[in-house]
Amino acid sequence: MESALQNALASLSGQLDFQAPEMRSMIAAFHEQMERGLRGEPSSLKMLPTFTDNPSGREKGDILALDLGGTNFRVLRVRLTGDGREPGITGGKFKLATEHVARTGEELFGAIARFIRQFMEAQGLRGTYPLGFTFSFPIRQQALRRGELIVWTKGWTASGVEGRDVVALLELALEKQGVAGVRVVSLNNDTTGTQVARAYFDPACDAGCILGTGTNVCYRESVSRLGEAPLGYNREAMIINMESGNFNQKLPRHRHDAALDACSENPGAQWEEKMVGGRYLGELVRLAAADWIGRGLLFGGRRPGPLSERDLWSSEAVSALLAAPPDEAPARLAGLGVPGAGPDDAAAVREIGRLFVRRAARIAAAVLSATMTRIDPGLERAHTVAVDGSLFEKMPGFRAFMAEAFSGLFGVRADRIAPVLTHDGSGLGAAIIAAAAEAENIA
Ligand code: GLC
Repeated sequence: MESALQNALASLSGQLDFQAPEMRSMIAAFHEQMERGLRGEPSSLKMLPTFTDNPSGREKGDILALDLGGTNFRVLRVRLTGDGREPGITGGKFKLATEHVARTGEELFGAIARFIRQFMEAQGLRGTYPLGFTFSFPIRQQALRRGELIVWTKGWTASGVEGRDVVALLELALEKQGVAGVRVVSLNNDTTGTQVARAYFDPACDAGCILGTGTNVCYRESVSRLGEAPLGYNREAMIINMESGNFNQKLPRHRHDAALDACSENPGAQWEEKMVGGRYLGELVRLAAADWIGRGLLFGGRRPGPLSERDLWSSEAVSALLAAPPDEAPARLAGLGVPGAGPDDAAAVREIGRLFVRRAARIAAAVLSATMTRIDPGLERAHTVAVDGSLFEKMPGFRAFMAEAFSGLFGVRADRIAPVLTHDGSGLGAAIIAAAAEAENIA
């Protein structure tokens, strides 16, 4: 490899490094922002009450769940027995198109209601079913079944939804579609759903985390530590949705982060998410590669399509390239629409990907470390963190980089934080939350 390219890689590696001492100052800032957010003071962490606590594991019923907020929209029927047995889950996945996420709320909720109707017809469901609604965006909840969308994230822009109660919008759409057999009984974020799904079987689970298109963390907090007591809620602990993707202090930011932010739908917001989430990781790698292409360091100055244009390089491409053995990287790049890469070009693009993935995993680990040390400062006991999302599940190296970061921070106590894949947990969690709400309403 030419020395100019080698030097560039070494310097990028330094810029994207994030070691235990820097992580510690980020963790201190995170704690401070958590405190402020809980007290209702201005903070980059929204610390949103969810009106939900961990389940008892005895919740039961025949329940519908909606899962909205990623690439796919899912409708599930979940049968919970409440006796430790695996829930029976049948479900339909529907792909959301641009017109659903980027035009009007009416179109979005209209499409959802149509999918629900189709699903119920296909399953032959008659009668009335309680429904739990996972809505994976920041919602200000005033009760378990009521919450306004604060602001769209992850590039969604459907008009007429911000500031509105999303349960009311869903009910209205269901009514318009003539769907009578559904009662929306609860609303939750995907992090909360994921935590609840795992906690149903595992009482040591006290946090939920998404590492996918977007990223966010929730955890179990004592109600006495909330600035304002949540009205009508009488349990001692509540899950708090931090909206940690919006955290913006002491992060190892690079000029490519600033460039990405400036071109995004929501400049100035979701800084942590823009350094970690799968929606952005590909573009960060592309920005770095394009910079070097422009400086003649890569591809002999040619401008290979997907690496030269905004948003054409995805985190899936980064993942595919990292999964290929190094000597197959040029062929893999060709398969990803970048033909004619020499071994050095391919090795460099691969390494850029690895460096951004390493940084993302370390930031994610720092956020979880801050969360767990808030709950248990000395890590005296074992904690499960329920995690879902494609980065955690599939990105080569991601989990290993996280584990390394925990070791660097906590030494032998690192294994007190156990991130566990809770695949598709948010739909199941929504059903469990709905079942708990039903039981409470009947009692
Ligand atoms: C975004 C949303 C948040 C969600 C996360 C993961 O950060 O704002 O609510 O939990 O994505 O889907």
